[in-house]
Amino acid sequence: MESGMQKLVVVSNRLPAALKKEQGRWTVNPGSGGLVTAMAPVLKNRGGTWIGWSGASDPDVDVDSLLADFSKEAGYELCTVPLTKEEVDGYYFGFSNEIIWPLFHDLQTRCRFYPKYWRAYLDVNFKFAEVVARKSDQDDYIWIQDYHLMHQAFFLKSMGVKRNIGFFLHIPFPTPDIFMKLPWRWKLIQALIEYDLVGFQTIQDRRNFVGCLQRLMPEARVEGRGAVVTVHAGNRQFRLGAFPISIDYNQFSDLAKRPDVARKAFELKEALRHRKIILGVDRLDYTKGIPERIRSIQTLLRRYPDLKGRMNFVQIAVPSREEVGEYKDLRTEIEQLVGRVNGEFSFPGWVPVHYHYRNLPYDELVAYYAAADIGLVTPLRDGMNLVAKEYCACNNSEDGVLVLSEFAGAAAQLQKHAYLVNPYDMDGIAKGIHRAFHWSKEERSLHMSKLREQVRKNNIFWWVDSFLQAGIAKTLGDFPEVET
Ligand code: ADP
Ligand code: F6P
Repeated sequence: MESGMQKLVVVSNRLPAALKKEQGRWTVNPGSGGLVTAMAPVLKNRGGTWIGWSGASDPDVDVDSLLADFSKEAGYELCTVPLTKEEVDGYYFGFSNEIIWPLFHDLQTRCRFYPKYWRAYLDVNFKFAEVVARKSDQDDYIWIQDYHLMHQAFFLKSMGVKRNIGFFLHIPFPTPDIFMKLPWRWKLIQALIEYDLVGFQTIQDRRNFVGCLQRLMPEARVEGRGAVVTVHAGNRQFRLGAFPISIDYNQFSDLAKRPDVARKAFELKEALRHRKIILGVDRLDYTKGIPERIRSIQTLLRRYPDLKGRMNFVQIAVPSREEVGEYKDLRTEIEQLVGRVNGEFSFPGWVPVHYHYRNLPYDELVAYYAAADIGLVTPLRDGMNLVAKEYCACNNSEDGVLVLSEFAGAAAQLQKHAYLVNPYDMDGIAKGIHRAFHWSKEERSLHMSKLREQVRKNNIFWWVDSFLQAGIAKTLGDFPEVET
């Protein structure tokens, strides 16, 4: 940690390293998902402590010694919160994945509002808060990440523990009509207003939160304008901000330039015979719109038969939440769709869809980004979507096109230079891809250079600085505007 800097204590459900039992042995794997991609460079840069669950719920595992090497190499302290299998089932698979995740992504029909999930969520939040209290002191800045842990400030206060504490939500915040369906809506709002700062990905998310707050507390008042505002609600005064999360731009761009990675990108193009590459990269999640995307490729090939044999769609999916039934069903659905589209269009020497279901090492993932002519990012709803930003950072040739869902948080920042599509509109996506194919070299380079400039400027270090400035500063200065 740099001298004179306040110590940072980051708290999230997952640590950047996850323990997994493989063939009877526990192994340490890098965590997946946007939260880890974004936060890991921040802790590496500043030092501090990261508190989270290890991914293991077996009481006999010696978690600390398994994570010791990872922590030493990372340059910051890792501290685990042990959770039993029952706790993981209720709080993580239940409350987090079957209630908040679908509800906040506008997919309320997938929610199972079981009271036992709510109780498990509260118990685990209390357990986390006890660890936070023990592992931090009054001068530290406590930064809680994401929807699994919304009750941290509430429980710390109820224990009489005073901390400067901020919360950042990585996923969207829903509109009042959707949020009001939550049986524990009032308790959740009461918990969120106990933070000193609550941060969202976009101004729209922040507006949605204010809408919900004012439905439940009509007297709540917002003061100020710009990215960070002050809220007065009952006896509470706290800050609210929009801080679009980002990536370590240089890390991605430099990795794409490394000779071995550039060679790998070239080999990929050669293997696909220099056909146009359309690339999708996601955790395998129903919010990512992968089946709709594959259907849009089917529509593309039906509507524009001249593209047969001239393009490949490569979908890379990282396994996620594999224990959950809906994720298993989604995997089957995707595999069947890939088979169906390939069955309809393949001919000797050409298979349109290439599908990889695995976690790729970063250099390989970056080689795919660098090789792709079109980055196809079409979530049905997404807090931000870092894949869109990673694709731009790796496109050093400035020759690619980003086709982006209008319902990804990233669209607020990237809309002027990405080709925006409605992820539910298969015809629209097909048309967008077809148009993107016909953009001139000048058009591609103009738009991609602007996208890259935006991601380079508003990178992960800009994000962390703006959040901490809003969290620590006594008075609110001029905050850089964020795109709405
Ligand atoms: P989410 O947070 O919902 O997972 P994001 O798009 O914000 O969505 O972040 C996904 C992260 O996971 C990105 O940093 C991306 O590089 C990483 N990722 C996605 N697919 C793979 C894969 N197959 N192998 C390795 N990393 C992946
Ligand atoms: O970015 C959203 C998020 O839910 C993170 O909080 C999480 O780490 C990531 O997606 C991956 O999901 P999970 O931790 O459930 O595997």
